[in-house]
Amino acid sequence: MNTILITGCSSGFGLETARTFLERGWRVVATMRGPRSDLLAPSDRLSILPLDVTDHDSIDRAVAAAGPVDALVNNAGVGLLNALEGVSMDAAREVFETNTLGTIAMTRAVLPQFRARRAGVVVNVTSSVTQRPLHLLSVYTASKAAVNAFTESLALELEPFGIRARLVIPGRAPETAFGANARARMGMDIPEAYAAVAAKVFAGIQQADGDLTRSSDVAEAVWRAVTDPSCPMRLPAGADAVAWAKAS
Ligand SMILES: NC(=O)c1ccc[n+]([C@@H]2O[C@H](COP(=O)([O-])OP(=O)(O)OC[C@H]3O[C@@H](n4cnc5c(N)ncnc54)[C@H](OP(=O)(O)O)[C@@H]3O)[C@@H](O)[C@H]2O)c1
Repeated sequence: MNTILITGCSSGFGLETARTFLERGWRVVATMRGPRSDLLAPSDRLSILPLDVTDHDSIDRAVAAAGPVDALVNNAGVGLLNALEGVSMDAAREVFETNTLGTIAMTRAVLPQFRARRAGVVVNVTSSVTQRPLHLLSVYTASKAAVNAFTESLALELEPFGIRARLVIPGRAPETAFGANARARMGMDIPEAYAAVAAKVFAGIQQADGDLTRSSDVAEAVWRAVTDPSCPMRLPAGADAVAWAKAS
């Protein structure tokens, strides 16, 4: 039976991806900072483990407890919407620690077993903002663009060992807790000089009625990235992300 380890399963894309792989017969190691047993239907193929991707001991413990895994999905992430002048260096570091270095650390932690078995897939979830710059997202976009570059280079060195690395690139998904989590963790103290720009950005977000991304789009894209060896390196997830990828 195949096993997948997914980071950030307490909500949103990670939770939906865990559900999808469980429904399709995989063994799922659903990791969360604060483990909860009420989010996923009980199954003897489900393990729920604590994992904070910014904590090296937590990573070592989770990877050891998970046992052999065939696929790693680096989904855990935090958002940050502000003008750069309103972003503290602590906040910038937290975004990079989670989105970028957390992804790198998790990947390093599973590679020895993948290499020993000459098999395995790493799927990194980034964002379509890396394909089209948007206002007030400089630090977040940089953290995800770094993961795009990391993954594309890493894929080359892993290929001779039979290991694949792929990117899933979601569009905007207001249905997840992402915006609320970002506001709760990072605040939204936009400097006065940027208030007019911010007002336009927020009005634009509220009026946006075009294509969006659903958690199920991301789960399907991760499924394809994991199970289809011919899957392209960059897989947009969601109608908006697909349209952006075509235009870029
Ligand atoms: N929603 C969007 O519009 C959107 C668009 C493009 C890309 N993305 C990306 O998609 C991924 C999933 O986002 P989502 O929309 O599903 O948001 P979400 O509902 O906020 O889920 C994010 C998950 O990451 C976890 N997490 C945060 N920091 C962590 C850490 N240090 N260690 C372990 N887990 C951590 C959260 O856990 P806690 O519950 O403990 O905070 C949560 O489970 C993120 O990487 C995000 O950047 C989101």
